[in-house]
Amino acid sequence: MDRDTMSNEENYAFDVAGYLHVPGVLSRGEVEALNRALDEAGASEGMLGWEAPQRDLFRDLLVHPQLVWYLNQIIGHGFRLDQAPRLLGSREGEIGQGLVGGDEPRNPSRAYFIQNGRRSCQGVKAIWVLEDVEEGDGGPVVVQASHKSNVETPEDLVTGQDDMGLVRQPVLKAGDLFLLAESTLQGMRPWTESPKRLLTYWYAGRAVIQSNGPGPGAEIETRPEWTENAPPEQKAVMYRPGAKGSNPPPVLNTDGEKTWVEESSEVIHPSIYIRDPNSKIDEKEFYFWDLNGYLVVRGVMDGEWLEKANEAVDKFQDRIEVGAELARGSKSQAGTGRPLLPGLVDLPAPYCDPFRRMIAHPAVVHRLNWMGASGYRTGGGTVFCAVQGTSGHSLHDGNEPMSPSRGYQFKNGRSYCETVTITWQLRDVEPDLGGFACVPGSHKTQYSMPPGIRTCDETMGLVVQPAMKAGDVLFFMDGGCTHGALAWKNPIPRRGVLVKYQSKNSNWGGGVIDPQERWGDMVEDMTEEQFAVMRGPERDGWDRTVPRLVVHDGQAHVSYDPEGDRYAASYRKPGEKSR
Ligand SMILES: [Fe+2]
Repeated sequence: MDRDTMSNEENYAFDVAGYLHVPGVLSRGEVEALNRALDEAGASEGMLGWEAPQRDLFRDLLVHPQLVWYLNQIIGHGFRLDQAPRLLGSREGEIGQGLVGGDEPRNPSRAYFIQNGRRSCQGVKAIWVLEDVEEGDGGPVVVQASHKSNVETPEDLVTGQDDMGLVRQPVLKAGDLFLLAESTLQGMRPWTESPKRLLTYWYAGRAVIQSNGPGPGAEIETRPEWTENAPPEQKAVMYRPGAKGSNPPPVLNTDGEKTWVEESSEVIHPSIYIRDPNSKIDEKEFYFWDLNGYLVVRGVMDGEWLEKANEAVDKFQDRIEVGAELARGSKSQAGTGRPLLPGLVDLPAPYCDPFRRMIAHPAVVHRLNWMGASGYRTGGGTVFCAVQGTSGHSLHDGNEPMSPSRGYQFKNGRSYCETVTITWQLRDVEPDLGGFACVPGSHKTQYSMPPGIRTCDETMGLVVQPAMKAGDVLFFMDGGCTHGALAWKNPIPRRGVLVKYQSKNSNWGGGVIDPQERWGDMVEDMTEEQFAVMRGPERDGWDRTVPRLVVHDGQAHVSYDPEGDRYAASYRKPGEKSR
């Protein structure tokens, strides 16, 4: 490799999605040789133990330098092979089973960790692509960002009863390497035509226990001698990893008085919480929201409401203001300025009515309450009226740098989203014709957004533009989930009413700032430094910062320089208008 570490793009892609597609690692000749060896052997597993020279190609792949280089960074040094290579989908019953993976409940021996900039993904499938897999071919499927899901995977998604728009079949070329975290939700769908050759090696972190090997070690029960006549529960805690009876390990249980070994190997791991059937939260919605950072609720507006809202927008076309071009250097999303019609709740009656009805609608209140708790407030609505040729809005925000007043946290079954923005669709949003776009999973990333994601010129397959119908309502984690818009290509102009909600926990965009107003006479004749700390809550804005105090030569001074005290390592420099 001609570089020291994975690029920020690669780190971001694996961190956001739970998989990384590395194109063209093997040459055409290498792929042909592997295919020939497989043809000759006529078998789909056992390669490492075949006769020489056939096995050599597969042994070479086991420690292929480029793979080792990636695994050292993704799993960590000292990774090892957990399961021998074989062709994916070749075992009976492997295809068409439910999806496996997801991070709830967490399986620490396969989970994804990242802490203080250090990552360790404890289980990774290295899939060598020996034949092209085109769109619609079937085979492996994945769910982006599911390696970090906080919510149990809905049963319908596991079984394929409802793909929830989340299941994706990657397009792969012969010679590619596809690195897939074990905790990413994944499965094998039936091949539409002939099976494609995907040679797969299973790797694990240096100390984690996943499977027992096929060798003789797993056939022998290895316990200390004294346990020979010991009761089963004592025997049960004396097992040795890798030996017979160790995988799955014995499950001990107790009623507080006696201890016994369960017959079933199902893990016992109690929680202090139970699911609340009275929470009124739709569990599929909660899963989707936590996974992706956005949610579409279908059919909230009826025909009459839509008609009135559209009529009002038609009526005030002359108030549309065309703003700046927001593609910000993007090649793919360049175009004209963004037309907006603001002040919808202030329109003269009855035109304001369809919009006033939106701001505290039950469908909104219900979800805002569970998404970030009550106490939110809004500034009203603006309708986005992009026309064919209107530029995209370069993607912005995300979890790195994280802004505490706008981010997302999940704790003890609750969603804490500090800024939720809602878009009411007054017209259909067609697939691939532009509009709201985001990076599902970016509300949990630890890496900064790469330039190609910002411009959407190099999306690495991570950006989605949800299709919606008139009457649907989109919720997204404004500030948490990386979002923006793709250039509008539909001859019918966009009509999305944007309503932003800020939580009770922080001030974001004006408010109580004046010390006089907050404290009255108490602040009279204060020095500038004293005055600075008497202000009300207000954040740093794009074009201004709140006063802070710095100490020079033993004296406190007022400063407006944000340098060094943003919430993350990367921050916008003063005077820079966009991010
Ligand atoms: Fe935004």
